[in-house]
Amino acid sequence: MVARPVLHPSSVVCTMIKFVRSSYMPQCGLFQLVSRSFFTSQPASTLQSAYEAASDSDRNDDEYANVNWDELGFRFMPTDYMYSMKCSLGDEFSQGKLNRYGNIELSPSAGVLNYGQGLFEGLKAHRSKGCDLLLFRPEENARRMQIGAERLCMPSPSVDQFVHAVKQTVLANKRWVPPPGKGSLYVRPLLLGSGTVLGLAPAPEYVFLVYAAPVGNYFKEGLSPINLLVEEESHRATPGGTGGVKTIANYAPVLKAQIQAKKKGFTDVLFLDSVNNKYLEEVSSCNIFLLKDGVISTPLTHGTILEGITRASIIEIARDLGYQVEERLVSVEDVIDADEVFCTGTAVVVAPVNSITYKGQRYHYNVGAAAVSTMLYNSLTSIQMGLVEDKKGWTVHIE
Ligand SMILES: Cc1ncc(COP(=O)(O)O)c(C=O)c1O
Repeated sequence: MVARPVLHPSSVVCTMIKFVRSSYMPQCGLFQLVSRSFFTSQPASTLQSAYEAASDSDRNDDEYANVNWDELGFRFMPTDYMYSMKCSLGDEFSQGKLNRYGNIELSPSAGVLNYGQGLFEGLKAHRSKGCDLLLFRPEENARRMQIGAERLCMPSPSVDQFVHAVKQTVLANKRWVPPPGKGSLYVRPLLLGSGTVLGLAPAPEYVFLVYAAPVGNYFKEGLSPINLLVEEESHRATPGGTGGVKTIANYAPVLKAQIQAKKKGFTDVLFLDSVNNKYLEEVSSCNIFLLKDGVISTPLTHGTILEGITRASIIEIARDLGYQVEERLVSVEDVIDADEVFCTGTAVVVAPVNSITYKGQRYHYNVGAAAVSTMLYNSLTSIQMGLVEDKKGWTVHIE
């Protein structure tokens, strides 16, 4: 597709983002673009009625989309709708709406494309046994996006706007939420500098988008323990940089190390701090914990590590279960010596680590049904899936 600059009728300096439905035309290898707009933002309490009232002739009311739920991995699968909301620099977001899922049109000179002014979030919706749709701590994702937006000089949606947009997106894509126990609907909010810039400056216009895709396990190992390689050459983050926020710019720099590790048969890469090359930071898309002599430790976040919502939840659950949990500097020697190691994140949930390789030496850890990480996984997912009473008020019911 050729990107085409389009002037917004209300602003000569801004670039119009046009949301379009895509249908693939195999004969020419292009996407046919059809503008489709359906219904506008509603208060959360009227989400269902708004959806039912939508006069979308294409709307599909099947309970479930035609997906082989037993074969879900962590791959993108387009769903029916996405949410969008715009805002000029110095203004506030308003007037969000759902559109059919599709490509977006951006000026080649959009801030996000030239200077990386972009943030993303990730959270999951589960279908409970009673068929309720459950979100897990979405307001924490909203707050994290606000912190990131402040760091990148972008306006951000309010917590209520963010949660409302997520709820609308999940409800509109309800048939893509896997059956209980088969996976979840991964919801991906994006905040992008969409307005045009040439010299380095904040973009004059921003777009907040939310799309979703059904997912299963993140790692190809499924729920089996993973094997990590300590990365000694490159670093994910530096003090004073942006490692602590979820900017899109933190992820491409990780790919080289990750690809090289995968070629050698490892699941992922464990990054060390960039000053001493000695203290654990995190894996490319999740936080890390270790257990030694019954004490759980995780690296202290001090600007270079993303403050995972799963990390915070696991710390709280483990303390409730009577474990001492320390947030501290964790050296590579500490992890070598650990009894158990595990990773946490929305996508990976709680992933047990089978081995860590450092300077050519492989170190193995306890895994399996009796592992503390298994107990923590069960405790967390029982809350997320609505299998136990949520005494913490972490789950948000959409219906
Ligand atoms: C770099 C990084 N660290 C940690 C996490 C875990 O964060 P959360 O538990 O909020 O998903 C993620 C996932 O979003 C991540 O991308």
